[in-house]
Amino acid sequence: MRAFVVTVPAEQVELASDALWGLGVVAVEERAGGHGAVELWTSLGDELPPEQVHLPAEWPWRFVEVDEMVADTWREFAQPVWVQPDLVVRPAWVPFEAPTSVTVLHIEPGSTFGMGDHPTTMLSLRALRRLVQPGCTVLDVGCGSGVLAIGACVFGAGHADAIDIAPAAVPVTRDNAAANGVAQRIHVSTTDLADVDGSYQLVLANILAPTLVALSADLQRVLAPGGALVISGILAEAHAHVLQALAPLQVVASDEMDGWVAITLR
Ligand SMILES: C[S@@+](CC[C@H](N)C(=O)[O-])C[C@H]1O[C@@H](n2cnc3c(N)ncnc32)[C@H](O)[C@@H]1O
Repeated sequence: MRAFVVTVPAEQVELASDALWGLGVVAVEERAGGHGAVELWTSLGDELPPEQVHLPAEWPWRFVEVDEMVADTWREFAQPVWVQPDLVVRPAWVPFEAPTSVTVLHIEPGSTFGMGDHPTTMLSLRALRRLVQPGCTVLDVGCGSGVLAIGACVFGAGHADAIDIAPAAVPVTRDNAAANGVAQRIHVSTTDLADVDGSYQLVLANILAPTLVALSADLQRVLAPGGALVISGILAEAHAHVLQALAPLQVVASDEMDGWVAITLR
């Protein structure tokens, strides 16, 4: 398999890592790149062709052939993530037992994003849990592993449509939905948001700011009257422009973790 390696100045590591998370990677490893530079090693999976990778010109990138065994070592260290005292996201291959009072989401991410360990996923899960009404309809934009759509259905949503530009998200979300007993209530596809013509009481979009801005008109269009939109994937320090793009929707809740935020709008 091929590693995707981006070389960045040390002071831009955080910014570049965020950009890579936004491309849907599942792990980023930092290695010294020499001359004050840092190499970020990651895997794009097969679904994202290089021509769809848009990184600033000052961050040169390359592909490197790596041993599959080495590329998968992160799996050995994966741990269940406690999202709340009674909600855990469990890597599907990690043995884990919890009291019946704890809700456990079993997730096999394959090459998609969404193990529950990123602050934006945790914040989105907490927000959707507050907002899900029994039987409500949900749209998960940028579903990755399907963790948010699955969480919404486990907490009582009637139906969730899950979409992602990455084709790998389709079988991964489908399998995860089955593993969590909600396969009948989730439909996953690579449909563009622009082509979604339903309307939903709860819309979830954990995607980086530039994409949220680009999708802002469609995010509003698919929101049912009185519905709630949860956006994440945005930094606490720099998201005013995203809220501007989503006007006249108003912020009704904002939660922060490690510099990231999830914002609920109505
Ligand atoms: C940060 S991940 C979120 C994954 C998962 N929903 C979670 O919360 O952990 C962002 C996802 O959005 C997808 N994505 C990026 N741009 C998109 C777009 N324009 N339409 C749909 N999905 C998109 C990526 O492929 C990736 O799977």
